[in-house]
Amino acid sequence: ETKIISIDPSCIDQEKLQEAANILKRGGTVAFPTETVYGLGANALDQEAVVKIFRAKGRPSDNPLIVHIADFDDINPLVREIPAVAKKLADRFWPGPLTMIFPKSEHVPEGITAGLDTVAIRMPSHGIARALIKLSGVPVAAPSANLSGKPSPTKAAHVIEDLMGKVEMIISGGECVVGLESTVLDISGEVPAILRPGGITLEDLKQVLEAVIVDPALEEKMGTGIVPKSPGMKYTHYAPKAEMMIIDGAAEIVVTKIENLAKEKEKDGLKVGIMATEETKDSYGAACVLSMGSRKAPETIGAKLFDTLRHFDALGVDLILAEGISRQGVGHAVMNRMLKAAGYRILSL
Ligand code: TXA
Ligand code: MG
Repeated sequence: ETKIISIDPSCIDQEKLQEAANILKRGGTVAFPTETVYGLGANALDQEAVVKIFRAKGRPSDNPLIVHIADFDDINPLVREIPAVAKKLADRFWPGPLTMIFPKSEHVPEGITAGLDTVAIRMPSHGIARALIKLSGVPVAAPSANLSGKPSPTKAAHVIEDLMGKVEMIISGGECVVGLESTVLDISGEVPAILRPGGITLEDLKQVLEAVIVDPALEEKMGTGIVPKSPGMKYTHYAPKAEMMIIDGAAEIVVTKIENLAKEKEKDGLKVGIMATEETKDSYGAACVLSMGSRKAPETIGAKLFDTLRHFDALGVDLILAEGISRQGVGHAVMNRMLKAAGYRILSL
């Protein structure tokens, strides 16, 4: 039995939220909105509660979880030491879509970190998420609230689709504004390294950090033998049911190529979906066309990407032909998720 409650993020009903906090306190699971994607939460210090998360999602147990906190000082019991850059980064980007990897303390259960010596911590900015963590009085472990392998949920309807009957409560609290999972930054080594790109961009981080690198494995295709440091990055993710291919290059050339490919595939009897942008969506004659957002504002594409993938599934398309976008700013995170969704099938023109 899953209980669904509705909470308006602009006017948070503390009494309703207390019921959700009580579930977390006594070891249950609650899905809740954050500014990135919906999370599936449980008490991070309760090993049995954490196991329920893995079971509900069908998540491989070697993929560690992010621990969510409400105040900076909440990290103290979770970490062995606080690297000097942590405070600087927190001052600038917390609360918000940045996850930092710290050397872990002995209080963090094995199940959270999948045996790693580090722990991932994030302070979300979403009002419901922060109030829920505060009311529960415990650090909250929360992966994205989707079935493992499906696109992350950015609306309550996505969570209901995936987790109904598998968790104790789902908080319906509107759409996630960022729409992509947080940036994961490893600060446990000498030079901070981006393990997963997200809403806080490389350019943003450079404003605070003297040095920052992108994990080389991140840019590599799957199957090159390089093992990504963030265990979650190696799994197929965000995958729609349809086959997907990205066509990358200058917008006009891409549109012509996609139009031709779509006609060809439709002749073969396939139902084709085109993942277009605001600037190009009206140039197509054939197929189902959905716009991800504007090329001029990649954050609008980030906000709609996962919903668009789920929309194509609902339409029952066999093949998605997706326009590549610029990798600048949030475009880096958008292309990372698109590549994963496409199983790294990309045609560069
Ligand atoms: O925006 C987000 O981060 C969302 C919301 C709910 O906060 N959560 C989320 O969690 O995306 P999840 O479990 O779907 O992704 C966590 C990522 C995975 O790629 C995991 O491998 C990585 O963080 N991770 C967790 N702990 C780690 C660690 N100690 N070292 C390296 N990577 C870690
Ligand atoms: Mg996830």
